[in-house]
Amino acid sequence: MGKKITDKVTWVGKVDWELKNFHGHEYSTNKGSSYNSYLIRDEKTVLIDTVWLPYDKEFVANLKREIDLKEIDYIIANHSEVDHSGALVELMAEIPDTPIYCTANGVKILKGHYHQDWNFVTVKTGDTLNIGSSTLTFVEAPMLHWPDSMMTYMSGENILFSNDAFGQHYATESLYNDNVDNCELYAEALKYYANILTPFSRLVTKKIEEVLSFNLPVNLICTSHGVIWKHEPTQIIEKYLKWANDYQEDQITIIYDTMWNSTRIMGEAIAKGIMQADSKLTVKLFNAAKEDKNDLITEIFKSKAILVGSPTINNGFLHSIAGLLEMAKGMKFKNKKAAAFGSYGWSGEVVKQLTERLKDAGFEVVNDGIRSLWVPDMDEMDSLTNYGKAFVESI
Ligand code: FEO
Repeated sequence: MGKKITDKVTWVGKVDWELKNFHGHEYSTNKGSSYNSYLIRDEKTVLIDTVWLPYDKEFVANLKREIDLKEIDYIIANHSEVDHSGALVELMAEIPDTPIYCTANGVKILKGHYHQDWNFVTVKTGDTLNIGSSTLTFVEAPMLHWPDSMMTYMSGENILFSNDAFGQHYATESLYNDNVDNCELYAEALKYYANILTPFSRLVTKKIEEVLSFNLPVNLICTSHGVIWKHEPTQIIEKYLKWANDYQEDQITIIYDTMWNSTRIMGEAIAKGIMQADSKLTVKLFNAAKEDKNDLITEIFKSKAILVGSPTINNGFLHSIAGLLEMAKGMKFKNKKAAAFGSYGWSGEVVKQLTERLKDAGFEVVNDGIRSLWVPDMDEMDSLTNYGKAFVESI
């Protein structure tokens, strides 16, 4: 059911407490999510975005309880991805002539998904739509995070409908940032940025600077996922500016996979050396085969350096490490140091391979790595600890 936000704006989205994966299985959503859709009632009536396809009938049925669908004058599709456009087919079957405002890329993508020749109205940055006492202004945000992405600003109410930007995969019935556990909220907002927006950080900075240059008052940031930023709404904009600026904390993360524990033991000895070199550093160790891949990407995002380990198997490395490094490459991390380690029994080429893979993923590799034959003995444990100390000095 709808939730009133202001006299003119009502939330008409869907909170999805059951969602455990997003983008197929590429993104874990342990705290669920929401697909936020908004109904604006001024002299004209406007619907901003819809919900994900599995909830299309529920969405339209609920919307009918809120308003006679024929009263909707305009639909705004800020973004064509199916989690926001998924109910359009169901909705447009009822109101087929209603204009859909979106970017030129939005038209292409919506047509590519739904193969419908709806009444599209193409907009670009600065275009406006007067709806009575308020005006809607469109701001294109290409590649944040799709080519069609767009935001819509509503004057009078001073609301930025930011779509994916500033969102979080976080289910809540409370709607607003001041009504939820802020540790949870920021953990999910950071995970969302790290896993979805990191590749586009340069564009994030430019777009935020552009929007700030308009000097628009912002009372609310109505995202398309998770909470609405109501209490000090610009706090998330400030966070984004920090995160987009090659964010890092004083953290070194050691990520490994292991077959018979030798590589784990190596990682722990290296961690000991790191802490001996600088006890103020945060050092974390994770077995990639046991951890959530998106949490690992978030930990890499927070780190100034990483160490990646795997035993050699079949002249290569373990699949959990291969998958994670492929994800990390796509994130286009900047300004992060790295090195490799791993145990072996005979061929032992994994450290060399991991070193190359780290370079290929954009990390600045600071040494040739370290490897141990079978199980490290006491002398090798000392060497690994010394390696950890030296690693700190090299970053
Ligand atoms: Fe929430 Fe890019 O869709």
